[in-house]
Amino acid sequence: MTATVLVVDDEETARLVVSEYLGSKGYEVLNAGTLAEARKILNTGRADIIVLDVRLPDGYGPHLLTETAQLPIRPEVIIMTAHGDVSMAVEAMKSGAHDFIEKPLDLLNLEESVRRAANTVSMRRELNHLRASKLNLDTFIIGSTPEMLKVVELAKRAADAAVSVLITGPSGTGKEVLASYIYTHGARAGKAFIDISCPAIQPTMFESELFGHEAGSFTGAVKKKNGLMEVADGGILFLDEIASMPLDMQAKLLRALEERNFRRVGGTSLINVDVQVIAASNRNLKEMISRSEFREDLYYRLKVVDIDLPALEKRKQDIPELVGYFIRKFNARLGSNIEGITPRAMDALIQYDWPGNIRELSNALERAVLFCDDRDIDLNHLPMDVVAHHGRNTY
Ligand SMILES: Nc1ncnc2c1ncn2[C@@H]1O[C@H](COP(=O)(O)OP(=O)(O)OP(=O)(O)O)[C@@H](O)[C@H]1O
Ligand SMILES: [Mg+2]
Repeated sequence: MTATVLVVDDEETARLVVSEYLGSKGYEVLNAGTLAEARKILNTGRADIIVLDVRLPDGYGPHLLTETAQLPIRPEVIIMTAHGDVSMAVEAMKSGAHDFIEKPLDLLNLEESVRRAANTVSMRRELNHLRASKLNLDTFIIGSTPEMLKVVELAKRAADAAVSVLITGPSGTGKEVLASYIYTHGARAGKAFIDISCPAIQPTMFESELFGHEAGSFTGAVKKKNGLMEVADGGILFLDEIASMPLDMQAKLLRALEERNFRRVGGTSLINVDVQVIAASNRNLKEMISRSEFREDLYYRLKVVDIDLPALEKRKQDIPELVGYFIRKFNARLGSNIEGITPRAMDALIQYDWPGNIRELSNALERAVLFCDDRDIDLNHLPMDVVAHHGRNTY
């Protein structure tokens, strides 16, 4: 995410140094020499972050804080204080400043502070997203890492062409969420979406679940039953945790996918179907193939499009956006009205390694929204694991 920083300082050289430095770090930078100029820019809604000097020709810088608080999307304000002016800094923080840094400026400190403010902005953008319009709580959050942009490009292609997709990735990285994204964005949206959790089906019942059975074909098969493959005709069959499918069933599934037809258990006639298969697995299917636990031919049949979801640890830049989304989601679900998260709590979320990936992040934020009685989520609302990780930093 690129954030736009407004630098407000009457000293032109100071302004230039800061602007050039932040520009070189990928921020978009705007400049103002007076409060009046700063207000003009603020009214355009373009500034995400303000780096603000205290003494300006037409007034006292921190007075802007009351005005920014009224804006629909509040920019984060970083105040530049004179060295040692602690009381002024404390005052500014109380009035809602994001941070303060001492002059003469240490550019590394400034960048660190701007980076944290950018995380807050990105979280808040997502949190305010569509607040007024239709609330879609089961969105697939894409983020901005190249890996995820690739994931979405592949997903859209697979959705358009309605071809088989194999989604892999560690537990909690969003394989099911992605499957439903493919469904809702594809040619088959609105048609059947049949979700089968393979581990939940008894091995002996698999064939009859998938292909159905004729009356009397086995003990207990009193009436004729259509299989899920038939129910999914024209739509999508989502085979979750496909690694749990018994080998004999894998062979039958492969045959059905190749021939686009199958027989019910105990049936003789062939039933034609047109289903798009999306399969997901958090296990390494290649390794299973080498141990003859998964059929190689089925593997290649499934992975016409092959999507591997990255662990959350590999896409930490996306954490602020995900945090904003989850606060929005759990606000709606729990009837809360949390406005955001403190910078140090955000830092803790970014530092943690998330072995349970997005599912773990989602659980942590659900808990935080539930426990938070303040305006913002803070460290004390986060799980112990997350905070313990963060313990190294001091505030
Ligand atoms: N990209 C995303 N955007 C929004 N929410 C997500 C995203 N990815 C995952 N989630 C959240 O994380 C939870 C877990 O995702 P999901 O069930 O899709 O994981 P999974 O990869 O299927 O995990 P497992 O391998 O354990 O079955 C979901 O309930 C959802 O709330
Ligand atoms: Mg899953």
